[in-house]
Amino acid sequence: MGYKIAVEKTKLSRLGEIDFNDLPFGKHFSDHMFIADYSDGEWKDCRIVPFGEFSIHPALSALHYGQSIFEGMKAEKDPEGNPIIFRPLKNLNRLNISTDRMAMPEIPEDLFMSAIDKLVSIDKNWIPDAPHSSLYIRPFMFATEGFVGIKPAEHFRFVIFTCPVGAYYSKPVKVFIHDKYVRAFPGGVGYAKCAGNYGAVMMPTREVQKMGYDQILWLDGIHHRYLQEIGTMNIFVIIDGVIITPALDQGTILDGVTRDSIVRLAESEGYVLQERDISIEEVINAYHEGKLQDMFGTGTAAVLSHIGEFHYKGENYELPPVELREISKKLKHRLTSIKSGKAEDVYGWLHTVAVAVYANS
Ligand code: COI
Repeated sequence: MGYKIAVEKTKLSRLGEIDFNDLPFGKHFSDHMFIADYSDGEWKDCRIVPFGEFSIHPALSALHYGQSIFEGMKAEKDPEGNPIIFRPLKNLNRLNISTDRMAMPEIPEDLFMSAIDKLVSIDKNWIPDAPHSSLYIRPFMFATEGFVGIKPAEHFRFVIFTCPVGAYYSKPVKVFIHDKYVRAFPGGVGYAKCAGNYGAVMMPTREVQKMGYDQILWLDGIHHRYLQEIGTMNIFVIIDGVIITPALDQGTILDGVTRDSIVRLAESEGYVLQERDISIEEVINAYHEGKLQDMFGTGTAAVLSHIGEFHYKGENYELPPVELREISKKLKHRLTSIKSGKAEDVYGWLHTVAVAVYANS
């Protein structure tokens, strides 16, 4: 089914107000956004309009009962200046895994891709050029019905806005490994990118931030023993040359697009990579034996961010300087070179936006 997207362009661009050489993460919003509404079993009224607020019903079911999900992707410019987007179909796949878990309607591929292509074409001048910067694309969906009572909604809104962003973390991340709070457990929603997963970790995260840490590295919800993820990132550990990351099969961590890309790049570089349970005891033993070479997180926003130190049960464990972390630096370089179109896209990960087709249609 072809979706017709109506366009209303802004009369006053805010492009000139932005310092593209000093971009904080997530504070500037491009000129336009895409909106589609769902009712009677179909997506309708697809439109691109000036970025702005919407009015909502006070009993909006997304606010009261949490039917709300989101995604994150990035667009950059290739060396010829064409907008390129990294693995959008993998994000769509995950979006529809989240819609399924949260009893929300699927987004069809042609709706998703034509909305992104058209929006990015119209706001292509918002894609930054500076190193480590990109245009962050945030698709999200929420239930729009106003009612009181617990049942899946029948009306939804799907929106995409974009933000020019710089680095999410500008220095190695300090993580606190909690033995009290948990993020996810088998059978729950840990694998879905639903708003509640983020709301539920705000209080514990604020507590550790007051103690000087950036994030929590979550342990599993049953044994409080096995590494899960950081919330903003998936986790990787390198012990004695072996790259280890938690497997996806428990359904407790997000199937990160950057995680998957790093797994595939590591395997193609010939590294030994294991997707398996990794306990905090194994990490700490490796630390004491001098075999813990690296810990890093991966995510769309965070790309590949090194862990500088971690805390567990009253002890701080400092990791080697980033200069010494040859494996992860190489993998990050491979990833960012492909994402920016500077290295050959051997995996077919890049989607080039057909600006000529979309910008004026
Ligand atoms: C992303 O990496 O896209 C996320 O949604 C995580 C959030 C920290 C921005």
